[in-house]
Amino acid sequence: MRTRVGVGALGLTLLAAALFLVLSTRGQAAGPAQPIAFNHQIHADQYKIDCQYCHADARRSEYAGIPSVSRCMGCHKITAADRPEVQKLAGFFNRNEPIPWVRIFMVPEYVYFPHKAHVRANVKCQTCHGPIEKMAVVEARTGQNLANDLLNLVGLARSSTPLTMGWCVECHTTMNAKEKTKAPLECVTCHH
Ligand code: HEC
Ligand code: HEC
Ligand code: HEC
Ligand code: HEC
Ligand code: HEC
Repeated sequence: MRTRVGVGALGLTLLAAALFLVLSTRGQAAGPAQPIAFNHQIHADQYKIDCQYCHADARRSEYAGIPSVSRCMGCHKITAADRPEVQKLAGFFNRNEPIPWVRIFMVPEYVYFPHKAHVRANVKCQTCHGPIEKMAVVEARTGQNLANDLLNLVGLARSSTPLTMGWCVECHTTMNAKEKTKAPLECVTCHH
């Protein structure tokens, strides 16, 4: 009887904490502040620029890659050249400096994840990254932290992909069964 009450109280406390976290983070951009306010909504949704026009390494290498300053300037020497954020961009270009973008999606160092194999097997970027073209600021709620743990515990986890081993292996198993792909399940292919 007493343990039951204890568990109930713990559950309520966790629920309250989770609700607080959900409410307190709702509505604000959750992604990190970037050196230039780059907006995927404008580029990928409104102007329909292809993901791989900018992330051009995705189909041929391990990395997807972030476009160089000169690729941006191909348009922005003229387009919106008077906007403050575009002038910041021109500043990096004129100083011949790379833009120090803050990394968002990441797996631990001991994991081998090649984009090439996935893009060639026609897995959509959005399957793993969510609806990037709808994001003014790219965000990913991955990894272990107190907020995510509490949300998971009370079943309120957000829908973004977790990038966990279970997630990788589950997709590999499913696609191998359904689409006859040869996605690896051996430990050493993902861990070297
Ligand atoms: C005009 C160029 C451009 C286009 C088009 C574009 N991106 Fe990006 N993308 C960027 C830049 C610059 C960044 C780094 C700044 C940021 O995170 O917003 C980025 C960041 C990202 C990231 C996060 C990288 C990290 O650090 O983990 C993902 C994922 C991504 N883009 C996917 C996409 C997808 C999917 C599409 C198509 C729907 C797309 N991008 C279209 C330029 C572009
Ligand atoms: C293929 C052409 C193209 C490329 C490449 C491109 N952009 Fe743009 N960008 C646009 C267009 C079109 C707009 C919308 C301009 C407008 O609102 O009139 C825009 C708008 C912007 C704005 C202003 C957004 C705002 O809120 O007003 C910024 C900042 C920007 N781009 C940054 C970048 C960066 C950084 C890169 C490189 C990673 C990049 N762009 C690459 C076409 C491009
Ligand atoms: C099967 C899942 C999956 C697919 C499909 C996928 N990605 Fe990724 N992406 C990841 C993972 C996992 C990482 C983190 C990799 C790491 O830390 O080494 C990542 C990292 C990135 C990054 C940041 C680091 C880098 O590689 O430059 C960008 C940008 C990115 N992805 C863009 C894209 C784009 C654009 C597409 C579609 C053309 C795409 N991704 C398709 C899972 C995926
Ligand atoms: C949405 C489905 C999906 C997810 C999620 C996914 N993969 Fe894959 N993976 C595939 C498919 C499909 C292939 C290609 C199989 C083929 O070529 O027949 C593949 C292939 C691979 C390969 C083999 C590459 C090669 O060169 O042969 C590695 C390594 C890999 N994935 C690692 C990962 C890791 C690590 C993760 C999680 C971070 C992950 N994958 C998540 C579907 C997925
Ligand atoms: C398809 C890719 C893939 C395969 C196959 C795979 N792993 Fe992983 N593994 C991952 C990823 C991604 C992570 C990091 C994310 C996480 O911790 O869930 C990881 C994490 C781990 C960790 C660290 C977990 C932790 O909590 O710190 C261990 C240990 C591990 N894997 C062992 C294995 C063993 C043993 C096998 C074979 C039975 C295996 N893995 C097969 C992708 C894979």
